Amino acid sequence: MKFNFNNEKGLLVHLMFEDSALKCDVFSKLVEKKIFSKKSGEIYLDIYNGACFVGLGKKEELEVDNLREIFFKLANELKAKKVEEVQIELPKLENICEEGIVTGITEGFIQSEYDFNRFKSDKNDKYELVVNLNKATEKQIKEVEDLENLMSAVFETRDLVNLPSNYIYPETLAKNAQELLSPLGVKVSIYGKEEIKKMGMEAFYAVGKGSDNEPRLIVMEYDNNSDSNEKIALVGKGITYDAGGYSLKPSDSMKTMFCDMGGAASVIGTILALAKNKVKTNVVGVVAACENAVSGHSYKPGDIIGSLSGKTIEVDNTDAEGRVTLADSVYYATKFKNATKVIDLATLTGACLVALGEVYTGALTNNQEFYNNLLEASYKAGEKIWQLPYDKEFKKLNKSHVADIKNSGGRLGGTITAGLFISEFINDLPWVHLDIAGTAFLSSANSYLPKGATGVHVKTLYYLLKEDK
Ligand code: BES
Ligand code: MN
Ligand code: ZN
Repeated sequence: MKFNFNNEKGLLVHLMFEDSALKCDVFSKLVEKKIFSKKSGEIYLDIYNGACFVGLGKKEELEVDNLREIFFKLANELKAKKVEEVQIELPKLENICEEGIVTGITEGFIQSEYDFNRFKSDKNDKYELVVNLNKATEKQIKEVEDLENLMSAVFETRDLVNLPSNYIYPETLAKNAQELLSPLGVKVSIYGKEEIKKMGMEAFYAVGKGSDNEPRLIVMEYDNNSDSNEKIALVGKGITYDAGGYSLKPSDSMKTMFCDMGGAASVIGTILALAKNKVKTNVVGVVAACENAVSGHSYKPGDIIGSLSGKTIEVDNTDAEGRVTLADSVYYATKFKNATKVIDLATLTGACLVALGEVYTGALTNNQEFYNNLLEASYKAGEKIWQLPYDKEFKKLNKSHVADIKNSGGRLGGTITAGLFISEFINDLPWVHLDIAGTAFLSSANSYLPKGATGVHVKTLYYLLKEDK
């Protein structure tokens, strides 16, 4: 896909609101014969006569996310008909700002380009669409450039998640983070198994020790705002494969568990987007990458393990491994990396899928103002988040009789108890927990989101941090 500006070439795409009129015979006939009624998402494409009409419905009802959906659909139709060049006059609207309009249109187009096909021998033919965006303002031109970078980071995130565990394991995840981020000036530090042990990350170490693919701690530091003392920690669950350990998963639920580093990938992707666009902010990314495997070295149900914080953990279920690795990751970020706020992202609980399906990310927070800022950014990104109660009453479910805390609170309120477990290790900093078990990896495509990895919340976090001056 290539975007040009103010270049009147290619098939003219007419954007039609319900009250738009067009003095043109073809168009009048289409409306008269009820072939095209200007409803939102309707597309009429006739390449032989050079006619392309796109319905946008009622002006006051149109939202940026509708534009993403509509232009994603248009891009696919243009591709099917092998159209090589189009021109679009950017409309002016009362309820969507200049940037919003161009974001919706361009992002929709770009979303159509994602295809995880590197293991297919038969690749689709090379196809590149040229999109001429006309009547574009300076602001809009800049927005498109930024968006191309942002979306390339989303696509990198998706690739990392879609790659199975024989390609992405702790060592290669760390290598990918380094190769993507170091050239952009992000400081990437990688620690191996012995260093993790020496640092005292006993909880993380316990989960990782069952696998021949040794763990890595990946720390990514992006410091690009010396005017601010704020530093946000982005902490991602980085289980490169979750077999469940001795609390083994049934094989059907195990099959896609290479996606269990979705949080880690989104952290890497967010920092990539920030660095590419040189966003003025300070971020530290922390990923405890390991496999949850079965072997003679694995941790076992009933074990009592230590943690970086000093708190002891009773292993009630080895399949509740994410929170155990996150306990050390978030503690590390707050104690050793001077984070002032924490956001963690994790494919953490099946319970979140039961509650919110593949549509909403589940959230917990101890700071409503911080959460509200994130929620605002999620609206801008078109990535849905639903808040669950951060209610201390659930804490009793995590109580252990032999240790300070237990790693599973049982079936009831599973997403909440998992989040509350992590909250014990954040040193009382403002914190948002995002459970992306349902939204990071889809069982079937949904509009512009493909089947498999979505790269969810790279956009949300990017917009949040871009605002955070
Ligand atoms: N990685 C899983 C959660 C998951 C499930 C992610 C489905 C994506 C799709 C997590 O480690 C897990 O196994 N959680 C357990 C926790 C339970 C043992 C308390 C679960 O949800 O069953
Ligand atoms: Mn698990
Ligand atoms: Zn897991």
